[in-house]
Amino acid sequence: MNKLVAANWKMHKTPQEALMLVQELAHLFEQTPPAANVVIFPPYITLPGLKPHVRPWGALGAQNFYPAEEGAFTGEISLPMLRACGCSHVLAGHSERRALMGESSDFVGQKTRFAIRAGFHVVLCVGETLEEREQGRLEAVLSEQLVSALPVAGASCGTLLSVAYEPVWAIGTGRVAKHDDIVAAHGFIRRQLSVALGSQSNGIKVIYGGSVKPDNAAAIIGLDNVDGLLVGGASLQAESFYHIVQACQS
Ligand code: PGA
Repeated sequence: MNKLVAANWKMHKTPQEALMLVQELAHLFEQTPPAANVVIFPPYITLPGLKPHVRPWGALGAQNFYPAEEGAFTGEISLPMLRACGCSHVLAGHSERRALMGESSDFVGQKTRFAIRAGFHVVLCVGETLEEREQGRLEAVLSEQLVSALPVAGASCGTLLSVAYEPVWAIGTGRVAKHDDIVAAHGFIRRQLSVALGSQSNGIKVIYGGSVKPDNAAAIIGLDNVDGLLVGGASLQAESFYHIVQACQS
């Protein structure tokens, strides 16, 4: 299975800075094509105009959306709007949205199913806090977050869903999860997906996120059941993200 490397720019980059970054990436990937499937998740307002620069080597996604076609939802953005900006992917369930914006697992599930029904590829983020891990609740938390988002409608879910395992305490902290812990969590997620979806789950990628950098990417991507990476801070600079993508070579 090809690996997936996704860049979550969070609330960084003006439209002009975003354009410069994708142009730098385009230049690098023109010389050596990406060794993985690449998806970039920039802020909403930078999206228009990025697609022509990204299309030759990657896909474009949105960090958020509201699960309705249109309507009185002040401040929200719909999937048809995102599609018109060239997006094929969306994030759902990122821990920052769960913790800071109060998104419940039920709402994340509603969003996940809505986007998949609309033909978008969803990167569903799951992960435990340090407190939950220390209390021995890792599997209960992952299971609750996954089960609320599944089952996903239709046979297409194997191709339209990826799951990102992102331990909350590893995000933006420089503290990567231990390799054994990543393998264990990914194995657990894969078993849960298989129980919930049977053979439909075979095509679902389980990717790791949390302080991925150019110097740790190759070791993480080489672990069992790791089908890719979700990169925050290290995706804000072209060279650094390029090296992470190319770490999928071997
Ligand atoms: P980080 O963020 O790579 O900066 O830790 C990852 C994420 O939040 O998706």
